[in-house]
Amino acid sequence: MTHQPKLIIGLLGYGVVGKGFYNAVKQTPGLNVVIKKIVIKHRAKARDVDDNLFTDDVEAVLQDDEINTVVELIDDAKAAYALVKKAMEKGKAVVSANKKMIAENFEALMYLQKQYRVPFLYEASCCASIPILRCLEEYFAFDEVKSIKGIINGSTNFILTKMLNSQLSFSEALAAAQKAGFAEANPALDVEGHDAANKFSILLAHGLGCRVHPREILYSGITHISKADIDYALKEKKTIKLLASAQKTTDGSVRAFVLPCFIRQDDELCHVKNELNALEVEGVFLGRQIFKGKGAGAYPTAAAVLSDVAAVQKGYQYPYRKLQEKSTGLKNDFLLDVYISADQLTKIKISDFKRIKEVQSRLGIHYVLGSIEAGKLLNTNWWKQKGVSLFVTEITYAQNNLPVSQSVTTNELAEISM
Ligand SMILES: NC(=O)c1ccc[n+]([C@@H]2O[C@H](COP(=O)([O-])OP(=O)(O)OC[C@H]3O[C@@H](n4cnc5c(N)ncnc54)[C@H](OP(=O)(O)O)[C@@H]3O)[C@@H](O)[C@H]2O)c1
Repeated sequence: MTHQPKLIIGLLGYGVVGKGFYNAVKQTPGLNVVIKKIVIKHRAKARDVDDNLFTDDVEAVLQDDEINTVVELIDDAKAAYALVKKAMEKGKAVVSANKKMIAENFEALMYLQKQYRVPFLYEASCCASIPILRCLEEYFAFDEVKSIKGIINGSTNFILTKMLNSQLSFSEALAAAQKAGFAEANPALDVEGHDAANKFSILLAHGLGCRVHPREILYSGITHISKADIDYALKEKKTIKLLASAQKTTDGSVRAFVLPCFIRQDDELCHVKNELNALEVEGVFLGRQIFKGKGAGAYPTAAAVLSDVAAVQKGYQYPYRKLQEKSTGLKNDFLLDVYISADQLTKIKISDFKRIKEVQSRLGIHYVLGSIEAGKLLNTNWWKQKGVSLFVTEITYAQNNLPVSQSVTTNELAEISM
């Protein structure tokens, strides 16, 4: 017996997640859900289910008034936005997993939901199987979230685990991730940190009420991590994780970044390995909560999409509570304690440091330990060039009230490190 309205679904995309979603619907009894049409890009590709379901004409879904829900699972953010917009204008509810599309068009998508009074849900876009967005909206509804910290990209976590635990080089670990199906054929979105920045932009809005475009977030990836960096981390009895981290300050502003970090063995995130994701959320009343689960893959992602479909059936829409509480902005005025290594010392811009604690040069590898203002890093690119890697050594969000470090120049450093 079901009292839920029947959802007639137009599915956009039949790739890893689309196929997973289709199979999950078929294997879930009691759902009052029918997938009526599947829109794909390449009509000639062989499919493993009834060929009559497929079309490459999106109008077959948009113009079909019986289809009341669109599930968008395509891999092209630009095309996805155009399709999602048209679906909402037609009064159809939309479920999506497309973090790039959502992060880049957040305000427009909020407007469309309001204008056409249709649900638009996207739980699968952030950490796939971890039920975090509705949790932030509902469970943390009346508790202020003070901080969010976590591993939000499964491919990079898999690669880093292999580099640290199995001593693979970056390219060997990337190949292993691609073989295991955890990285795209073109992995730039993952390994350069764009995917994590997209997800974090969505999490910051739902968790901390801070709306920022991903390009406004200080972030990098893991492409330049060298064997020497791995050796340094192991020598210090630390591991390396690409961490997304944000903290709300008493004035309501938010300090945030997505950067590789050295983390200690007693940090619970240290033990989150391979393709797993984890998030630590701290509320004023609730205290610290940890969520851990699969951050990618057909069924973990499809399960989140399915959960959104069930929520659409109940008429659920995100209330965007945190965004309504207090409009908070991002501030990059805090200091980051960093380790920056380079194959040539001159690649490290010493004048950007506020404080230098240590400089070392050995066997052609140079590194500097010190503090740099986040805003300084956001406005420069020298630390992202080939041969240079940056790691946060301690997450403190310290106020930038140190005097400028004028005392050491690159030339002097070269002498120090001889
Ligand atoms: N894979 C994961 O673990 C995961 C996890 C979380 C979120 N996501 C998100 O889920 C979405 C889908 O990812 P995926 O891994 O399933 O991608 P995928 O395997 O590459 O599949 C993409 C699908 O989209 C179709 N498509 C591409 N452009 C289209 C267009 N313009 N019109 C209609 N169909 C189009 C493709 O059609 P053809 O089959 O004809 O080529 C294909 O079926 C992405 O936004 C991704 O970021 C993925």
